Amino acid sequence: MCGIVGYVGSEQSSKILYEGLRRLEYRGYDSAGVAVMNDGGLNIVRAVGNLAHLGKALETEDVSGNIGIGHTRWATHGKPSEANAHPHQDCTGNLAIVHNGIIENFAELREELSGRGHDFHSETDTEVIAHLIEEQMTNGCDSLPSAVREASKSLDGTYAIAAVCTDDPDHIVAARRDSPLVIGVGETGNFLASGIPAFLAHTREVINIENGDVVILSADSITILDENDNSITRESETVDWDVAAAEKGGYDDFMLKEIFEQPEAFRNTIRGRFKDDHVTLDELKLTDQQVADISKIYIVACGTSYHAGMVGKYAIEKWARIPVELDVASEFRYRDPVIDENTLVIAISQSGETADTLAGVVQAREQGAKVLAVVNVVGSLLTREADILILTHAGPEIGVAATKTFTCQLAAMYLVGLYLATARGTLSSGERRSIISELERMPEMIQETLEDHSMITEATEKYFELPDFLYLGRGVGFPVALESALKMKEISYIHAEGYAAGEMKHGPIALIEDGTPVITVANNSLVQDKVLSNVQESIARGASIVIVGTRGDKTTMGQADDFFPVPECDEILSPVLTTIPLQLFSYHVAKRRGCNVDQPRNLAKSVTVE
Ligand code: F6R
Repeated sequence: MCGIVGYVGSEQSSKILYEGLRRLEYRGYDSAGVAVMNDGGLNIVRAVGNLAHLGKALETEDVSGNIGIGHTRWATHGKPSEANAHPHQDCTGNLAIVHNGIIENFAELREELSGRGHDFHSETDTEVIAHLIEEQMTNGCDSLPSAVREASKSLDGTYAIAAVCTDDPDHIVAARRDSPLVIGVGETGNFLASGIPAFLAHTREVINIENGDVVILSADSITILDENDNSITRESETVDWDVAAAEKGGYDDFMLKEIFEQPEAFRNTIRGRFKDDHVTLDELKLTDQQVADISKIYIVACGTSYHAGMVGKYAIEKWARIPVELDVASEFRYRDPVIDENTLVIAISQSGETADTLAGVVQAREQGAKVLAVVNVVGSLLTREADILILTHAGPEIGVAATKTFTCQLAAMYLVGLYLATARGTLSSGERRSIISELERMPEMIQETLEDHSMITEATEKYFELPDFLYLGRGVGFPVALESALKMKEISYIHAEGYAAGEMKHGPIALIEDGTPVITVANNSLVQDKVLSNVQESIARGASIVIVGTRGDKTTMGQADDFFPVPECDEILSPVLTTIPLQLFSYHVAKRRGCNVDQPRNLAKSVTVE
């Protein structure tokens, strides 16, 4: 986690750094800081708390200068405090660095460095890097880049580092291993960041930095040294995200904006994918024989992406008749699953940086599996580890709670399911056409669902002060119940349990008392009657019933205290729609409780630690 930004050019850097950090704040927000170089000196400003505190501090400090680095932190080593905030310095005070990642051997390094006389001022793992670079600079390295290179050789773990040093006043030097870092090629100078939104207001031209690269940025040059210190050229690419997409665009919060972006995001993810009765997935470079040989699929993911994987499992098994196992990535990586060359592993990750998912993928490949990754962030680590990449085109998601990326992951899983079903001949042309036409109609149906939500704000008033919510669903309604409970707890801090409706009587029913809200996914489906029986069992015990159901379904409506309607659609595709009122419900409940929905406590947008 954590966000890094750097700028060198003709503009004042502090403003650019601050704006960049603002767009990266979703990566961590317990403290922030900048280091700006000017007249042979370094000016460092740091503040605890979200970025607004740094903004205030910057108003009172003189931080003029055209070259600088900045950081927004999500604490791993050491509590959120000014001393632990980045940038960190060496003993001389000439060097400042920012870091994203975890240095696993920092305790040993710190002990060694202390033994050699270095003074430490923070509890962070990062500070050891500053002192290691300092040692290299004093012990023979003739330049900052070579000192960064040499110092990085001592580091175990993951890092993206950016450094500035008064001995080298015109350059920012950066390096990375398994933590994201990209270069932005601008007109007024060059940028560095751990996420593209940081510099999107200035440039869309991006160069990916690879593991092992050392990068030297000046106002008008970019030098990249590969791991053998050869100067190399890496092609830039132009991203199609626009600045507005990374801003709130008139909404109160990113989360709400992103919920309302779902019609467009879904449309972008399926765009160009259908030809008559089949799906074109040119990325899926498997021969017919390889598809025929797939004996098992593992879907590996965390959190919301895991819930998308669960819907994917139902779709693939139903349509393509391939057995699918679903694993939480943190379990998959350590449980020694049975994998061979006929196994397809599908890794789903919005950020493409989730440590557990990445580790699972690396392991599966080592054991001979083919890996297909469904990812939203272009150039992220997972996109480089996968054999096959399917990008969701949700655009940047800034709100920490995943919303539009979830529905786009569903879209991607439907594409994969249909592709496999076509290749294995398990769905007729007519069946495929019918699913495709529903998918094509989906953006309009999402729009319809979003437009009709006054009943959700009304329901919010009844429920927002209650301490416990139970979410129920069956079939593909089950992952929706899990996802909706997750959304409720992460942004409103209300305890919420998601359950398979049929499991309720095996335990959770004991939780129900007068007025307990039971939120049920009960749209038209093969299992609807069964779900409604569970609703009756809840009513008998005094529950208040909220149902997400099919518009116009009077029987179901009659059983609900509050009814959130969605358009009628194919059962397997219905999670795209049934999720949406419950995203809005969580959003309104959280807002009513005064929570910061974009930056819920203790969370971060990309989870790069185990
Ligand atoms: C919940 C949420 C998290 C993520 C999880 C995996 O709203 O966003 O549960 O889904 O941390 O993240 P990715 O998809 O980036 O691998």
